[in-house]
Amino acid sequence: MRLTVIGTGYLGLTHAVCMADLGHEVVAIDVDERKIAMASRGELPFFEPGLEPLLRKNLDSGRLRFASSCAEAARFGKVHFLCVNTPAATDGQADLRFVTSAIDELASNLISRCLVVGKSTVPPGTARSILGRLRAAAPAGDQVDLAWNPEFLREGHAVQDTMRPDRLVFGVASEWADALLRQIYAEPLAAGVPGLTMDLETAELVKLSANAFLATRISFINAIADACQAVGADVLKLVDALGYDERIACRSLSPGLGFGGGCLPKDIRAFHAAAAKLGLDSVTALLAAVDAINLDRRAQVADLTRAAVGGRLAGKRVAVLGAAFKPNSDDVRDSPSLDVCERLAQQGATVSVHDPAALKNAAQIKPHLRYSLTIAEVAADADVVLHLTEWSDYQTIDPYALARIVAKPVLIDARCVLDATMWRAAGWRVAVLGRPEECWPARSRSIEAIG
Ligand code: UGA
Repeated sequence: MRLTVIGTGYLGLTHAVCMADLGHEVVAIDVDERKIAMASRGELPFFEPGLEPLLRKNLDSGRLRFASSCAEAARFGKVHFLCVNTPAATDGQADLRFVTSAIDELASNLISRCLVVGKSTVPPGTARSILGRLRAAAPAGDQVDLAWNPEFLREGHAVQDTMRPDRLVFGVASEWADALLRQIYAEPLAAGVPGLTMDLETAELVKLSANAFLATRISFINAIADACQAVGADVLKLVDALGYDERIACRSLSPGLGFGGGCLPKDIRAFHAAAAKLGLDSVTALLAAVDAINLDRRAQVADLTRAAVGGRLAGKRVAVLGAAFKPNSDDVRDSPSLDVCERLAQQGATVSVHDPAALKNAAQIKPHLRYSLTIAEVAADADVVLHLTEWSDYQTIDPYALARIVAKPVLIDARCVLDATMWRAAGWRVAVLGRPEECWPARSRSIEAIG
């Protein structure tokens, strides 16, 4: 089928490449000429395992090309996927500026029967109002249909999550739209991926609820980690035990520094804002608590670091392992790690940061921090080492060798994955969020204990 993809950010570019790989003819457009030029050369503007070879393969096959004209896209495609971003406005609401401008530009060029498919994350009610807007502005009028097909891909797993998602959600206003979507996704559907048809509003809410639920799980386990710290219990053993209950399971239940990135924090705040408008106190109370617990993790790690260096950060050297919001990504949007770094730098610490992929992006938004591609350089003469993003590289660090480089062998593992026993054996004082000292005493006592 002839498809277009509007917006070539993380979501759009991945979607365009994967749709071409499923055998469709795809034209992807963006208002940013630089992005279009890069993608046309087979280069990705971000780090995503496995996507670049697939981009090249589909460019070479001729099934995928990039353009900058909406009119060209409108002429080319029968189905238009809307993949523009919906950033947060200053009050936390979703800013739909890019959605409406893309829709307006597309609409004026729609002269025959076609389907527009929204993939962006939007507040409930947006799709239905877009449908009205499209039909009012398009020369093809009521011949234009709209569906909402939310995306659930995770950065770092984008290709797999697009080609074989856990489920496909088809929010539709007509049987024709449902049938077209099922044709487009025929291959994953045939491979057993469930395809769920529903109305537009339910589809919009599925996406918001999915991210809200993931965020809630993470904040839940982090609140329980606080309880563990208070009574001297071990959150990792607790998670292990919880996970044997199939109703609970352990996925998205890793305690630590909490969630960040371009999606979960933004989406729970947009959902919160939409719920507040609807007067849904249950939803706003829940999401406010999830957000507050998450942000408190960052404050806790900053407090702990100050305590670890004797109560004053001014003039102290802090070595930070990890800048990306999660491993296998170069994305630093709302990175919990960089938030902690900022808090420490503001109190006068010299903060040196290592990351295998995200240093360039980190340096752009936090130019006042120090950066290095080698762990040894970052750790040299450090008063404390913070493990803030759980890249697998950090699990193979030799703690004996590192102990010889730092000024003081003190480690705070805010992601709870390093082998604390091994580090302690190498002479380190180790604090792990949510684990008792040996591992960790209660929050108030812990500050003296580690300091
Ligand atoms: C998230 C969702 O997982 C995707 O399903 C969704 O499609 C995407 O947002 C989106 O809306 O576009 P992503 O932001 O790539 O995907 O990241 P996740 O893997 O969900 O991780 C989010 C954050 O939570 C990271 O900072 C990670 O370190 C943290 N996290 C994750 C935890 O602290 N504990 C966990 O157990 C899991």
